[in-house]
Amino acid sequence: MINSIQDTTELANGVKMPWLGLGVWQSKEGTEVEQAIAWALQRGYRSIDTATIYRNEAGVGRALKASGIAREDIFLTTKVWNSDQGFESTLAAYETSLEVLDTDYLDLYLIHWPVAGKYKDTWRALELLYKEQKVRAIGVSNFLVHHLKDLIPSCEIKPMVNQVEFHPYLVQPTLLDFCRSEGIQLEAWSPLMQGKVVDVPELMHIGEKYGKSAVQVALRWNLQHGVVTIPKSIKEARITSNSDIFDFELTEDEMLAIDALDRGVRMGPDPDNFDF
Ligand SMILES: NC(=O)c1ccc[n+]([C@@H]2O[C@H](COP(=O)([O-])OP(=O)(O)OC[C@H]3O[C@@H](n4cnc5c(N)ncnc54)[C@H](OP(=O)(O)O)[C@@H]3O)[C@@H](O)[C@H]2O)c1
Repeated sequence: MINSIQDTTELANGVKMPWLGLGVWQSKEGTEVEQAIAWALQRGYRSIDTATIYRNEAGVGRALKASGIAREDIFLTTKVWNSDQGFESTLAAYETSLEVLDTDYLDLYLIHWPVAGKYKDTWRALELLYKEQKVRAIGVSNFLVHHLKDLIPSCEIKPMVNQVEFHPYLVQPTLLDFCRSEGIQLEAWSPLMQGKVVDVPELMHIGEKYGKSAVQVALRWNLQHGVVTIPKSIKEARITSNSDIFDFELTEDEMLAIDALDRGVRMGPDPDNFDF
């Protein structure tokens, strides 16, 4: 049972990753992202999810320094962007991210998208970074089952995390089961359907029983599926309420009712059909 913001999942290599983190896609570089992170850390969040393409790694780095919280108490994720994929270019992109983030290491480095013909070379670079102890864990993002089945046989080290779009309208049970069976931790992006979960009546209805919002129910449903979640907000009240999900437990029936909302609807790009 996950009942505290400090609770963590243990990745395949034993590294502990918080179940809840703050996403910072579309949080503007500068005051906006720095303030959001400051509020999140005050509220007890200890995991931040950024990416080179978000163009706010510098602000993330400044916010972490300003917090005064020890670096080892933070779980920091960034991602190698598509145009940097390939072996040497990924190694270089990693060093640039460290510099911009103003840190000595990352907790998690992800391949942002499964760029065809490139992701195996990119993965070899991540394996090297891991073996050199420059990053505590490595993983992928937006990998479907067939991408993982293609990558895993050539891996020396299996991805420890797969960060994918995951919410009540896009449940992907096969992917979830596959990752679980391979010891890959699933992590949800757009867990709030980019804000649209607020209008899902079934979630509101379930929330009434617990005095929780549709957003909080959706996030709790992530946790009870064993899925790490990283809702984004730049608003203090929302950052706080999004973390107020550790004092109630959805029933089995409620979990199934939310699973049944699945429509296979994506808010973001399709990993099988993207052109960036
Ligand atoms: N790997 C990938 O390819 C990938 C892709 C997309 C996202 N991500 C990661 O996942 C994180 C989360 O996904 P996301 O940013 O796409 O979407 P999200 O977390 O599902 O939703 C964020 C949106 O919901 C609003 N919101 C937040 N809390 C709310 C609340 N309590 N009530 C009502 N609205 C609320 C936010 O607005 P305000 O900010 O104005 O509150 C924002 O517009 C990203 O920030 C990023 O770190 C990764």
